[in-house]
Amino acid sequence: MIDDLQHLEINALAELEQSTNEDQAQAVRTKYLGRKGLLTTLLRNIAQVPDDEKPLFGKRCNEAKDILSAKIDEVLLQQLLRKKSEGLLKEKIDVTIPGRIIKFGRVHPVIQIRREICAIFASFGFSIVEGPEVELDYYNFEALNIPKDHPARDMQDTFYIEENIVLRTHTSPVQVRIMEKIQPPVRILSPGRVYRRDSDVSHTPMFHQIEGLLVDKGVSFADLKGMLTAFLKKIFGMNTKLRFRPSFFPFTEPSAEVDIRCVMCGGSGCRVCGQSGWLEILGSGMVDPAVFHNVGYDSEEYTGFAFGLGLERIAMLKYGVSDIRLFFENDIRFLKQF
Ligand code: DAH
Repeated sequence: MIDDLQHLEINALAELEQSTNEDQAQAVRTKYLGRKGLLTTLLRNIAQVPDDEKPLFGKRCNEAKDILSAKIDEVLLQQLLRKKSEGLLKEKIDVTIPGRIIKFGRVHPVIQIRREICAIFASFGFSIVEGPEVELDYYNFEALNIPKDHPARDMQDTFYIEENIVLRTHTSPVQVRIMEKIQPPVRILSPGRVYRRDSDVSHTPMFHQIEGLLVDKGVSFADLKGMLTAFLKKIFGMNTKLRFRPSFFPFTEPSAEVDIRCVMCGGSGCRVCGQSGWLEILGSGMVDPAVFHNVGYDSEEYTGFAFGLGLERIAMLKYGVSDIRLFFENDIRFLKQF
């Protein structure tokens, strides 16, 4: 029986040695130490041992149980630790790998200019308003004193949706929409997209304009000059030279175009300014009484001035961009420069 015990012990330890996971180690425990386990059964059969050997046999059996049990616990613990450290190794992060740099977005140059201009006029007390891009012929032309067959319609190559619906060719119709809604005093600025059938280095079928309108009692051409001068000096620099040149727009009388000294050549004449030394920046004028009449304002009581300018043109001059199409190609290398 002592021999049997020794065999059992050796086998049990060998099997434990072979076990690679918790289940296998637990199986060894059940096989030898369980209620019907081999060692348990052996001890239960102590009756068959001669009396004088019984104490020693009992002692040895209990020792073997304790040793085996402790050994199983030890193996289980080691297996657990190994599993843990394998998991940790798998999860290991390499803190020396450089992170992925997130690229900063930035504001499109045309929108930068729009914000700048809106901020300047907001400081003059203007409200920012918007109008529809798909516009009635009435607002785009008729109410602005540009009747059908008027030669001024040829100035703006129009996209027609239907006979009386157009893609607006300028932001001026917002003037009319606003004046129909509110009574003077009016101080509004209206940025937005406009459309013309035109495409070359300085024209795109869609571009951006800003419209301004101020109506009140006693507004004069001097107010127009003063405000537009302050605005243009703020945008292009305090030393910018300006000139107001007589012009014609059907919705203003008198009308003036405002030029600045060429930012490229300083006035000596170059390709950008067509050798004239001046750059045309905006159209403006005193609101024509006919327009006031169309919106029901009394032109004896109120006067006002209006102006309109192209944002891409300002951005081109301010940033020295020679091809307007660059603004719409979305080439990141171009846009990153502003
Ligand atoms: N709407 C004109 C254009 O697109 C620009 C303009 C000129 C607007 C004179 C005005 C103005 O308000 O008074 O060419």
